[in-house]
Amino acid sequence: MRTLRTLLALLMVLGVAATPAAASERHDVAYDRYSLTVDGQRVLLWSGEFHYFRLPSPELWRDVLQKIKAAGFNGVSLYFHWGYHSPAPGVYDFSGVRDVDRLLRMTEETGLYVVARPGPYINAETTGGGLPAWLKTTEGRARSSDPTYTAAYREWLSRINPILARHQVTRGGSVIAYNVENEYAVNVDPLYMEQLQQKARADGIDVPITHNACCNADLANWSSGQGAVQIPGVDDYPNGFDCQNPDTWGAWGEGVTRRLRDDAPVYAAEYQAGAIDGANAGYEGCRELTGPDFMKVYYKSNVIGSGATMFGYYMTFGGTNWGWLPQPNDVYTSYDYGSAITESRGLTAKYDEFKRQGLFMTTVAPLAKTDPGPAPVSADPAVFAQARVNPDTGTQFVLVRHADRKTSADVSTTLAWSTPDGAHQVPVRVGGRDAKILVAGYDLGGQRLVWSNSEILTHVTVQGRDVAVLYGREGEQGSTVLRYSSKPRVRVLDGAVRSSFDGKDLKLDYTHSGLARVLVSGGGRPPVLLLLGTDQTAAEFWRLDTAKGPVLVRGTSLARSAAISGGRLELEADMDEAGEVETFAPVSRLVVGGRLVPARRTASGSLVGKLAGPRPVTLPVLSQWQYRAESPASGSGWTVADKTTTASPIKPKTLPVLYSDEYGFHHGNVWYRGTFTAGAEKTVSVNAITGRRGNYLVWLNGRYLGSAAGGTEADAEPVNPDPGRGDFAIPDGLLKPGSTATLSVLVTNMGHNDNWTADDVRFKQPRGLYGVTVGDARISWQIRGSRYDDVERGSLNTGGLYGELAGWHLPGSGGRWSQPPASMPAGVSWYRTTFGLDLPEDQDVPVAVRFGEQPDRKYRAFVFVNGWNVGHYMTGAPQRDFVVPTGVLRRSNTIVLAVVATEPGELAPVSLVALGNHRTSAHLR
Ligand code: GAL
Repeated sequence: MRTLRTLLALLMVLGVAATPAAASERHDVAYDRYSLTVDGQRVLLWSGEFHYFRLPSPELWRDVLQKIKAAGFNGVSLYFHWGYHSPAPGVYDFSGVRDVDRLLRMTEETGLYVVARPGPYINAETTGGGLPAWLKTTEGRARSSDPTYTAAYREWLSRINPILARHQVTRGGSVIAYNVENEYAVNVDPLYMEQLQQKARADGIDVPITHNACCNADLANWSSGQGAVQIPGVDDYPNGFDCQNPDTWGAWGEGVTRRLRDDAPVYAAEYQAGAIDGANAGYEGCRELTGPDFMKVYYKSNVIGSGATMFGYYMTFGGTNWGWLPQPNDVYTSYDYGSAITESRGLTAKYDEFKRQGLFMTTVAPLAKTDPGPAPVSADPAVFAQARVNPDTGTQFVLVRHADRKTSADVSTTLAWSTPDGAHQVPVRVGGRDAKILVAGYDLGGQRLVWSNSEILTHVTVQGRDVAVLYGREGEQGSTVLRYSSKPRVRVLDGAVRSSFDGKDLKLDYTHSGLARVLVSGGGRPPVLLLLGTDQTAAEFWRLDTAKGPVLVRGTSLARSAAISGGRLELEADMDEAGEVETFAPVSRLVVGGRLVPARRTASGSLVGKLAGPRPVTLPVLSQWQYRAESPASGSGWTVADKTTTASPIKPKTLPVLYSDEYGFHHGNVWYRGTFTAGAEKTVSVNAITGRRGNYLVWLNGRYLGSAAGGTEADAEPVNPDPGRGDFAIPDGLLKPGSTATLSVLVTNMGHNDNWTADDVRFKQPRGLYGVTVGDARISWQIRGSRYDDVERGSLNTGGLYGELAGWHLPGSGGRWSQPPASMPAGVSWYRTTFGLDLPEDQDVPVAVRFGEQPDRKYRAFVFVNGWNVGHYMTGAPQRDFVVPTGVLRRSNTIVLAVVATEPGELAPVSLVALGNHRTSAHLR
């Protein structure tokens, strides 16, 4: 596998397209109680969750995958979103931003294993939990073995499974495991679980089948009985989701993943790596809630506490709920999630912590097979120690943390540690919320590590010499003990390191600060360069695979890939500012981004060169806005709404059924037009169901009557008969008795409920009008909604505003656009302008559209950039910056805002902002 991967990486560097056909090597994938294996080699699967559907720019998939890989991950966990590919029964699209074959090729080119998660249900805070909206109008319970639902999901699996199957590791690809369903925990139907697996096997899936159980696996977890999977996993979100109180820890428990089967590895299928922002705190709060100290304490406790060797960190890059992707109850446009990689693809302090842990997990092989072992005894019970041991090598892994994991005390003590190489008194310190995994009895390259109270970042062997990076918290004492048959030669190249040899063991003592360098040679072993750093200096390192083995790079803000040819190291890297790059590789020359970099050889045996940073950039000011009004319910394209029955368990309050899904309008805004013969009616009474933060606006005979908040739920039994109720008084004289009156209603559909409870009352909640009464008038209805005619952007991009149907959101749309009015009227207003972007080709500048601060706004705005709906700016959500991915953004751009205002007012100032500036050798356009 490694040879294949490095070959593919090499082909990439040489600019040769690596096709799946090139991936012809077949491998055996198996597992036992300890881990997965590939061709008999143990794999500790350290993967990050990424949703391609939340990044509508395939070249940026590569950017994110490379960043995930560079953080030390060896896998990605990928949901595949049925509804994203299927706008209507029998219609499936895998082109452009939906080209998942291309996505899987990229995982192969990047060298990442894939856990494929095609649902059919995925949850994921996306509309319908990934079920297509058209499924809402079918009979039979979704997520069960009901025949109608079965026929529907088989359509999807018949398309997605063959793509996944041809990318399996067993066929030379990247897919190492296949996850069925998602947290299928309540209202379960074992036959359905069994049939999903039979279908997968029939479609050629031969890698192990997994499931992610919810809620610490206390509910159905599919570890035995009908529907059981081979590797049952567990989802853990131990810190909960209160991003407003990021210091409050451990709301949901200990966070140690349970073993569910004796014959399968422990799988932390979704382990919390961020949070949804239900409380509108903003994602920085979520990032803090799940920040580096949480990661240290929980992730390391989990590794040692559970012995898990399969991990999926949810989310590693969250991305954007562009268009109508969000499920309305928990999220808004941004799905940043407080992840390690931000929505604008920036690397955070969490990324650094992932790198410190990930490089360790994927370097130190004995971790992939461990049993609980006797723990060292801590002299101070305030410090807790727990151990695992590899039964073949004897290598010990010891977790050290506070007994009370929430305390921030600073405690120093000693462990009485019986290591494989003798009993030792090991000083340890736990300062603040912290945890460490210490290693003893480890064959580190050609060295024997007796013990260290520094943590291992990674190590490589370059031309017969080991290079090892260890680290600890700034200012803490560190000791590393290595065994030799005779006294070795010790040269301290940098930093203050004391050494002593007792005839058997070399002990190095130091204080973690900067980066100390020690060269040890002789003593009956190959030479080793020890690089002893801090959290910060450790995070400056990157480890990259090449055909000649892994190499280390230090100092670049990202290292994407490396290849060695003709004595040159060819690097793809990013720089956020000018600085030094240092490489530990078997080469004499350094090439970065295709350019030879003058480099000098150091006493450490590395090459050091200087790299330039990015040039400053200025973004254009948005000006010269043009305006166009959309009048209520005008124009053509109406469908008669006269249905009297619905498959939804929720029956309407008045007839006809006006649920937008019943008429094939599944996403975004919907216009309704009702006509009746006027009498002496006094009030228009409306019930509409929109999902959280939705609303609707009402006009009668062209006069705006007002707006109301849409409801979120109706009951199957009418417990709450009045969801989303609005009563609008009819002004005197507006109705002419005996003549036809026209009622117009614009309803937002905020997206479809998920179906976590496998319960149609939740999933098949209507969207649109639930009931309308105007006195005793008999109203004839028409409806107009989204149309699926934009294959490039897909069915979730637009709704049914008239301007959307007429293409006003697209670049270069004709018609009469004029000067914006001084005050924006209530109703639908369209604004547009154009701008050029002349950014340097070798710089990655993530751009966002920003709305100025405006606390008292009475409108929502949809942001279209070059026709792509990249944002829904709304009251009740904290988001003001809307990231526009490169790819959607071009050299010449059109930005269009569709604004739905409930009262006249001012539009906030709208500008472009740069959320980063990186010099890069990647081709992101
Ligand atoms: C899990 C679910 C994910 C996502 C997550 C919260 O329960 O499997 O899809 O919804 O919670 O973000």
